[in-house]
Amino acid sequence: MSVVCGPLKFGTQPYSSETTDDGQHTTDSQEMKKFYLTTPIYYPNARPHVGSAYTTIVCDAIARYKRMCGYDVAFLTGTDEHGEKLQRAADVAGIPVEQFVAEKRELFKDLWRTLGIPQHSSEHPAGYRFVHTSQNPAHRTAVQWMIRQAGKAGYIEKKRYEGRYCVFDERYVSDNPEPVNCDICGRPAELISEENYFFRLSVFQDRLLRLYKDQPEFVLPDFRMNEVKSFVKGGLHDISISRRRLKWGIPWPDDPEQVVYVWYDALTSYLTGIGFEGDKRSKDFEKYWMGAEGPSEVVHMIGKDILRFHAVYWPAFLMAAGLPLPKTVFAHGWIYYQQDKMSKSKGNVVYPDNGIADGRGLVLHDKILDLTYPAKERARLGNEALRYYLLRDTPFGLDGSFSYEGLIQRYNSDLANGLGNLAKRTLPMIRSYFDGIAPSPVQQQASDSETGSLLPRIASQSRTYAVNRLASHEFSTVLTEIWRLISGADRELNERRPWAITDDPSQRDRRADVLGNAYEVLRFVAVLAYPVLPLATQQLWTQLNQRECAAGVDPRSLQWGQLKPGTIVGKAEPIFPRLDKEATLRKLRELADEDRAREKNTKEASIQVESQSEQKPVAPVSTPASGGAGDSAATDQKITIDNFAKIDLRVGTILSAEPIPGATKLLKLQVDIGTEVRQVCAGIAEYYKPEDLVGMKIVLVANLQPRKLRGVESNGMILAASVGEQGKPVLATFKEEVPNGTKLK
Ligand code: MSP
Repeated sequence: MSVVCGPLKFGTQPYSSETTDDGQHTTDSQEMKKFYLTTPIYYPNARPHVGSAYTTIVCDAIARYKRMCGYDVAFLTGTDEHGEKLQRAADVAGIPVEQFVAEKRELFKDLWRTLGIPQHSSEHPAGYRFVHTSQNPAHRTAVQWMIRQAGKAGYIEKKRYEGRYCVFDERYVSDNPEPVNCDICGRPAELISEENYFFRLSVFQDRLLRLYKDQPEFVLPDFRMNEVKSFVKGGLHDISISRRRLKWGIPWPDDPEQVVYVWYDALTSYLTGIGFEGDKRSKDFEKYWMGAEGPSEVVHMIGKDILRFHAVYWPAFLMAAGLPLPKTVFAHGWIYYQQDKMSKSKGNVVYPDNGIADGRGLVLHDKILDLTYPAKERARLGNEALRYYLLRDTPFGLDGSFSYEGLIQRYNSDLANGLGNLAKRTLPMIRSYFDGIAPSPVQQQASDSETGSLLPRIASQSRTYAVNRLASHEFSTVLTEIWRLISGADRELNERRPWAITDDPSQRDRRADVLGNAYEVLRFVAVLAYPVLPLATQQLWTQLNQRECAAGVDPRSLQWGQLKPGTIVGKAEPIFPRLDKEATLRKLRELADEDRAREKNTKEASIQVESQSEQKPVAPVSTPASGGAGDSAATDQKITIDNFAKIDLRVGTILSAEPIPGATKLLKLQVDIGTEVRQVCAGIAEYYKPEDLVGMKIVLVANLQPRKLRGVESNGMILAASVGEQGKPVLATFKEEVPNGTKLK
């Protein structure tokens, strides 16, 4: 079912960022605000999975919500087509690279279609626009313009670059001359030395720190801002932004021997995607990026692994080009598969287009529902279950964990038993007791004791809560709140048992009140949950026989008791039929196994790489970890200096620290050791608060065998003294400033 809502009427509602319990907006402005939201552009060399779909799902929900609130929304996604591996993958597949890349692009668009995420059109003004890079002439012009501007302003210089390059994989492995093995093939990477163009990032340190101070919402959530600040305070190095040995990419302006560094290229897509072509600029670019038609908010939604590029490099590139900066870079957490990183080699990747949200839709056809159930409906069920599950179970900004059990559990308890069941109980009773005419709910003004119902108050609290929290994308708590309202209505039905009330005219009002309340709750829920469940809520809206569509109602104007008298409800079709948990799980696992076997046999599989470490100098989360600080063994035995020299001790800065669910003693740390960011699990949770650790200098044993603790990979060990009988860990640190990566000997 495709829902098209007529153009929203603007100007009648004042806009606000805050709403009070009685539905009043606290700040007013008659202007239609602009909102430009982006996902990262995805590397198209791997098939998108549940984790890569997460950002786009989140952005679709945000775009829908902003649109409901009357914003003029632009929403961008796309593919990042830089990289020799695409060329090699195309060679292996035996097709021209242009065709190969174009086909991969379609995989993403197909998935968005499957997930019910519409493309931009006059019917879907907040639908996604799509940008692609290397083969896009407008994008080439844009990137070259950015480079020229930075060059003219004196921020680019030619210098000797020394780093490590893997000849076998034809890739830059590290921007540091220190010996290192290629993290794809494991061979030692060669030391190379070449003339490259460098961006003078170091001169932006003060300006960036000022930006973070003046615009604290530039990086969200706050704890991510702390990571960024401490990284920048630690000192910035100039970065090489051209590559001599790569052929596929955007040629350096006036020096075709070199191509532009992948991140300069990729980040510029946020401009290209709305019509920026250097000096030639579209109306949309002027409107959304330059704010030519009034204030415009630009928000980049990204995963936490690419924060540094967005929060440090990107503002510096924009400053160098003299362009305005985005308002916010929001770094969300990662979706793991049962606490582990999804990885093809581990065989634990979850693809949404495999039994969850494809034509089979949560494999509903198999024994559970018969095939007469319309295919479109089946796809919707899986898709909306996935959206709901990811947004409900992942506190936004933190990591989440996907499991098929969790998905089906949420589906059954919240969607089928919660929302679906409330509609299935309420509407037929309205049809049988009131000839289908929805009775009015009890009045909001009446006190709880007069009406005996808490629902008007809970509904208006839920509305206020949802509106205020959706502004900061807190889907998980908002959904919890909306479902509190659903439970409230369910409880009232159970307690007042409208089916048991006699037909005596004196009792009719009591029954009308209960069913009117339940109807009104369903109307609230249809509007508030629309951004997350766009199709189910519209189906419900139609059954409630409300006018136009749920998406057309500004949630901030939602008031208890706005029902038009005489509204005749429609037939209650099941919105979320209940699933047989075991049968569905079995089928999903079977499909996943088949899929894995198929993927193994594809020609491309062998050259697809999961870690993009040349582009992302962060520790692959897959490299396992060592023990925590408490593991350091004391020994009386003497060792030779050669033995000691085998231990690679490095200075690092803790960028972030977070608890590990279910492990009371462990903290998961991200540690910057100069050349990379390492993930380490440390047994210090009982003695250190995560927020006190951020920014702290520590010593890391950098060459320990990685290992897993409580399912979380840890790659190194932090040195700590073990004090007293309890062995209280006290972290080793420095009094003087020592750069990250410095070796201890
Ligand atoms: N091409 C770069 C981004 C350039 S943006 C100017 C890139 N691409 S990526 O395909 O590797 O990752 C795209 C996004 O998917 C990133 O935000 C990344 O964090 C996100 N995710 C990839 N796997 C993920 C999970 N398992 N969970 C959540 N998000 C994950 O980086």
